[in-house]
Amino acid sequence: MEIIIQPDGEQASQLAARIVARTVREKPHAVLGFATGNTPLPLYRSLVRMHREEGLDFSGLTSFNLDEYVGIPPAHPSSFHSYMWAHIFSNINLPRERINIPDGLAADIPASCRKYEQAIRSAGGIDIQILGIGTNGHIGFNEPSSSLSSRTRIKTLTEETRREAAAAFGGEDDVPTHVITMGLGTIMESRMCLLLAFGRRKARAVASAAEGPVTAMVPGSVLQMHPRAILVIDREAAAELTMADYYLWVSEHKPDWQKY
Ligand code: GLP
Repeated sequence: MEIIIQPDGEQASQLAARIVARTVREKPHAVLGFATGNTPLPLYRSLVRMHREEGLDFSGLTSFNLDEYVGIPPAHPSSFHSYMWAHIFSNINLPRERINIPDGLAADIPASCRKYEQAIRSAGGIDIQILGIGTNGHIGFNEPSSSLSSRTRIKTLTEETRREAAAAFGGEDDVPTHVITMGLGTIMESRMCLLLAFGRRKARAVASAAEGPVTAMVPGSVLQMHPRAILVIDREAAAELTMADYYLWVSEHKPDWQKY
């Protein structure tokens, strides 16, 4: 696991955007895995800016989103479909027909999850999976106790996660109880995992995921088993890392060819 600590979320997001942009330039038919939440917003703003100002071209790409709420129509303002169109898809040239987001209204959810897995395989697998992390350590919507080898499936949200989503739905009671999420096994097959976390409230989850034991109780800890997992975090999210000084030293002393 590579842990890159930046002074703030903005600089961390710009660094993450450079990592994504490099793949987009080097591999015009790359497959990107997108996440939602507040964390990736500055990264998406940077990618939109690179598209507008530098001509970063998404026209050959395919994308897969991590998750979606069950029972929420795509047009609902708090659906992840709406989020993605509002924050990135309307502003880049990624073709609509190659955008994939789990279908929260599927009549046969297990079948649609199998189809989603198949679509990822047919696209050649995900090159970079962007991830955030929940305060309880979840990635995607793989809540604590999720199987470390799980595939795309329906999950029940924990109370903590529903509480955190309450504002978007106008109250906890209106937050859906179920979601469809890529599994931890699905995420682990991505060629690169790029996890972003900002702010003091993420510090415990970051430390447990990066330095704690690998356990289903902290789903993000499975990334310790990934050959190319990069954590890009700000100083506040790094507050509980016991080896923070070492990670900073490593970043500062990288040879030029290894810099992002
Ligand atoms: C949701 C999403 C996750 C995201 C998490 C953290 O649960 N399904 O993909 O990482 O929220 O959200 P935020 O970035 O807003 O803290």
